[in-house]
Amino acid sequence: MVHLGPKKPPSRKGSMADVPRDLLEQISQLETLFTIDTQKLNIIVDHFIKELEKGLSKEGGSIPMIPTWVMTMPDGKEKGTYLALDMGGTNLRVCEVELLGNRDFDITQSKYHMPPEMKTGSSEQLWDYIADCLQAFLQSHHPNGAGEELSLGFTFSYPCSQTAIHNGVLQRWTKGFDIDNVEGHDVQPMLEAALKRKNVPITVTALINDTTGTMVASNYTDPETQMGVIFGTGCNAAYFDVVKNIPKLEGLIDLDPETPMAINCEWGAFDNEHVVLPRTKYDVQIDEDSPRPNQQAFEKMIAGLYLGEIHRLVMLDLHEQGFIFENQNVEGLKKSYSIDASLLSQIEEDPFENLTEVEDLFMSRFSIQTTEPERKLLRRLAELIGTRSARLSAAGVAAICKKMGIEKCHVGADGSVFNKYPHFQERGAQALADIFGWKDIPPADHPIKVQPAEDGSGVGAALIAALTLKRMKEGLPVGMKPEIIEKLALEHK
Ligand code: GLC
Repeated sequence: MVHLGPKKPPSRKGSMADVPRDLLEQISQLETLFTIDTQKLNIIVDHFIKELEKGLSKEGGSIPMIPTWVMTMPDGKEKGTYLALDMGGTNLRVCEVELLGNRDFDITQSKYHMPPEMKTGSSEQLWDYIADCLQAFLQSHHPNGAGEELSLGFTFSYPCSQTAIHNGVLQRWTKGFDIDNVEGHDVQPMLEAALKRKNVPITVTALINDTTGTMVASNYTDPETQMGVIFGTGCNAAYFDVVKNIPKLEGLIDLDPETPMAINCEWGAFDNEHVVLPRTKYDVQIDEDSPRPNQQAFEKMIAGLYLGEIHRLVMLDLHEQGFIFENQNVEGLKKSYSIDASLLSQIEEDPFENLTEVEDLFMSRFSIQTTEPERKLLRRLAELIGTRSARLSAAGVAAICKKMGIEKCHVGADGSVFNKYPHFQERGAQALADIFGWKDIPPADHPIKVQPAEDGSGVGAALIAALTLKRMKEGLPVGMKPEIIEKLALEHK
């Protein structure tokens, strides 16, 4: 695949000359609130590096920095057929991946809608539903039986503490999930019990975060990839560190200090103590009204789940203060999370000078008649929220590169915001250039390039399952020593 690299962020056409003074003032205040200049970005990066290190230390910090027990990158020769399951927010995806041994693969997949109530339903309901989907997949793709027990790479993208590659104790739900009796428990036995109850011949070989899967899948097709990031409903990154840099593993493993170890950062939790991120009152409100206040501070300013909500809260606030939508019924804007990031994308993408598409959108979705100056404010606001998200994301990427001394690499990125939000990639690349001072380097030649990833939760999960089985066959560790795992499990009880 040829990546030309992102273009420069566009300079907006469209004049603000006809925007009345009071609205111009509001726009200027929003610009102050939401803009993160290079100086501030560098302060954030410096603090981020310290927090990444703290997360790896014995005392720990806000960023979980979870050792994933993925200790090898693929060499491209991996072969075999594996199942992959991805539990996302809206869909469950089941894939059968055939690794072809030449950095290539074939994939067959089915998607199953995940009923929204399940996000806050019961644990049994969740595992039974997942087992049913796996069963349905096997029945449609292997009507005569799969032959042998199949190995599954399970992409479960929430912070899980792992003592070995196949298990993970959910630390806490993120991305608006709130299912009882899962936090604090190992998710692998729960899924395997449901599979057993339903006689589904599948073993969970590896439990994977989407970021780790993305990194491994992208590295499979592009060996220059050293990091995997997701900018979607949530936001997170994985990279390879080495055991000697992970003091919190001391005494728990017996590995050469130079052994590589993929770390699932769970960087959404960066700055939960609110030291450095320039939160607005809207960010504070989102946090306070969320099912898990005081958590995922960074993610709540960046990720797709929250971008539309930030826009909605600003609009309502400006309306209540009498600046926009005068004499309009704004009931349609009052429902929390009724606006998602795709609306912001549509606002940013309106090609017309007088933003008539935005006008139609607000009329049809919310029965609100907007004026042209109001629409200009709404568009500027979307640009500000989208740009802030891209610049903060770049701060995370820069922090990992600086911590690891990486001057040149590819970063595999996936997620709806990265793939679909207008100008996100260019704005992120610009922010990296600001941080690293790449003034005269055209974006296509930037030494650190964040580019579209390979399918992490499909190919990545299959590869990790393959790499795990290979390590096990060779007698190499895929987790802590069994006696330590037992001791930790007892302490946990
Ligand atoms: C949330 C999850 C994390 C995941 C990310 C992207 O931050 O906690 O595990 O990688 O979303 O999906």
